[in-house]
Order: sequence, then C-alpha cells, then structure tokens
Amino acid sequence: MEIAVIGSNMVDLITYTNTLPKAGETLEAPDFAIGCGGKGANQAVAAAKLGAQVMMVSKVGDDLFAANTLANLQQQGIDTRYVTTMPGTSSGVAPIFVDDQSQNRILIVKGANDYLKPTDIDTAAEALKSCQLLILQLEIPLETVYYAIDFARRQGIKVILNPAPAVANLDIHYACQCDYFMPNETELEILTGLPVKTDEQVEAAGQSLLKRGLKNLIITLGSRGALWMHGTETYRVAPTPVNAVDTSGAGDAFIGCFAHSLIKTGDVAQAMQLASAYAACSVTRRGTQRSYPDAETFQRFHNVN
Ligand code: RIB
Repeated sequence: MEIAVIGSNMVDLITYTNTLPKAGETLEAPDFAIGCGGKGANQAVAAAKLGAQVMMVSKVGDDLFAANTLANLQQQGIDTRYVTTMPGTSSGVAPIFVDDQSQNRILIVKGANDYLKPTDIDTAAEALKSCQLLILQLEIPLETVYYAIDFARRQGIKVILNPAPAVANLDIHYACQCDYFMPNETELEILTGLPVKTDEQVEAAGQSLLKRGLKNLIITLGSRGALWMHGTETYRVAPTPVNAVDTSGAGDAFIGCFAHSLIKTGDVAQAMQLASAYAACSVTRRGTQRSYPDAETFQRFHNVN
C-alpha cells in the first residue's frame, strides 16, 4: 500500500446560497446537493482517483449514511478493511454553505469520527506498516492523531499533517515530528494568532512556526496559490486561474494530489505544482469529492491550464 489516511469521513450537505440568513430569518436558497466528504476521505479519494493505492482507517456511524460512505470509498478502490462502524452513533455530517463568490463555510458534526481511537490504529497496524506515507487531519480525536504520528515515526513512515480544522491547543511537538505540515491561511492564522492578509504576513506567520521546529510548512492559499517554507528557503506556486464555482474541498484535493505525486517522484516543488492545478480543476465543479477529476480528466485540464 502506498498511502494510508487515518481520518474522517462525513456526509456533505451543501446549500448554494447568495445570502446567509440572520437570526430569526428564513431565506430561500436556490440549490442543494448531498455528497461524500470529510477531510480524510476527500484526501484519500483524491489520491485514489489519480491512481494511488490507498487505505483508510476511519469510523462510520450506525445509520443509513454508513453503507453509502463505504460503497463510495470502495468504488474508488480504497481499502476499507479498517473503516468500522461505531454502534449507537450517527455518521459525521457537514452542513456547507457556498455563496455567490464560490466561497464555502463549513460546520462539522463529528459523530462517529470522534470515536476513532488509538486502538483502531493498533488493529490496523500490520497493514499500516506497509505504507510509505500517512496523512492525518484533525476531524478525529487529537490523542489518535498523536498516537498515529508516534506509530509512523517508529515505523519510518512519512507523515503529512493537515491541521484542519485548526485547534489552538495543537501540541507543536507532534507537528514537528511530521514531515509536512499543511495548513491553509485560515488555519495558519488560528495556529499562530498572527494576521495572514498579505503575502508578507503569511511568510511572517509561517516563520513563527518554523522557528518552533517544523520541518516543511506548506501553506495552501486558495486563489493566491501555495507556499512551501523550510529552513530559510521559500518556494511559491502561482495559482492556476480558473472560473471557480465551488471551493469546498479544494484544500483536500491539493493534499491528495500532493501525496500521490510526492510518493511517485519525491519532488516537493513538482508535487505542489500538480496539486495546485488539481485543486484549481476541482473548484470548477460543484461538490467536494465529486468535483475531483480522475487522472485522465486532470491530464486534459493540465494540458491547457
Ligand atoms: O475540507 C472540506 C471538508 O470539510 C468537507 O468535505 C466537509 O465534510 C468537512 O470535513
């Protein structure tokens, strides 16, 4: 197996609306869609759609959504032997609001994801040991994330930590154990308490994390591209200009593609270029996982963008 994702799956409930209601107000929204999401599953699916061998360690709820989530992962060729059911809980769900600027606002209800425990990693340990790269996010308990990082370090498996959604109390010691730490600009702001409006501010916030011992910091900046900082070096990827219709899950598309490319070539800069183009392609279509192109579709997009 090439990539393991120990992380979340969610059911995305996406409302497309021009205006968000105020307290006590009812507004009609023009459109709605339901889809498979969750940052962990999104990243796994993006990598799998591009051809990576992927396994997931995850928890589904004891409800109608679970079978669909499992079937969806399996359709993408993802190994779901360690995606298990949490009795008596709901699956994770994510009400998402996409505005007329194609920007998203997301609420998450973790549901079963909150019950993914270190013992689930122990159960999957033999399969995990064969993986080259582990991807983690923060929609599962922090203790499980920390346990997974310790496990990967012992096994010599490379780790990407996507600190999303950001938590101010993330233990920097664990972040420093990871090979790649990949926040977006909002998460960078929460983690550092520093402003991130301008490129200079982003670099200053990034430096403040690097000074604490991070190895590679890769910041996804949406329509501003992406930035890799390591030591005193910085490498910037320009955005691929597109007409965005829905930015939900674009950061996950970036990470899934980055992971796939990184294990193929080991070239971080090239992986970032491809990931940036892949995320750009995803925002030209609605939804999270369903907006991710397969390898052939992405190749066509990449040839002309
Ligand atoms: O990053 C986008 C994802 O965040 C959505 O799919 C939603 O499920 C939440 O986890």
